[in-house]
Amino acid sequence: MTSPRKCRVAILISGRGSNMASLIAAARAPDYPAEIVLVASNRPEAGGLAAAAQAGIATRALDHKAHASRAAFDAALQLELVAAGIDLVVLAGFMRIFSDGFVEAWAGRMINIHPSLLPLFKGVHTHDQALAAGVRLHGCTVHYVVPELDAGPIIAQAAVPVHPGDDADALAARILVQEHRLYPAALALVAGGQVRLEEGRVTFSADVAGGAGALLSL
Ligand code: GRF
Repeated sequence: MTSPRKCRVAILISGRGSNMASLIAAARAPDYPAEIVLVASNRPEAGGLAAAAQAGIATRALDHKAHASRAAFDAALQLELVAAGIDLVVLAGFMRIFSDGFVEAWAGRMINIHPSLLPLFKGVHTHDQALAAGVRLHGCTVHYVVPELDAGPIIAQAAVPVHPGDDADALAARILVQEHRLYPAALALVAGGQVRLEEGRVTFSADVAGGAGALLSL
């Protein structure tokens, strides 16, 4: 019997790539529904690129500063994604905003992880935002990407407590542990077709109703 075709994933990074590494590790499992076929970065110096190459994955450095406009960068990236036969784009610490056209071209096929419990604390410095707001729970969110920043339909979330005396670094470290657990689980659901974006809402297939709930717990 032939095994089902795996979803071909490109991971886009701008930095150290610890989430990328957790996804690469998860995708080594024979029954994982996605294969990581490309890692691309808008920053040639991103540490994650070397780690991906060492893991035997094709890498591309597309320096955004070498492109005349946002649209030109997005077009160059699109060429790479199409050439690699990518089904799903996974943003993992990719610190660059796309043109609306690029986002629309990947509607329902591009996901991101954000270090807060969206819709709280969009944008950057999310841990400082959480500390300033005095929330007692903080966390991370995997969501589909839409043109509006950090506003896409939510696939999965994990929460952590905020302890008295926490600073932004302590919170970031506690959340990163959850990110590395949540993102591979969420990607498996999307790549396996158990989670879909339908008319702007996330739907779960019946067999993962319990699994999706588990993603929400600590
Ligand atoms: C993570 O906190 C992620 O949530 C955010 O950027 C950070 C990337 O970290 N989008 P890493 O490069 O995956 O280590």
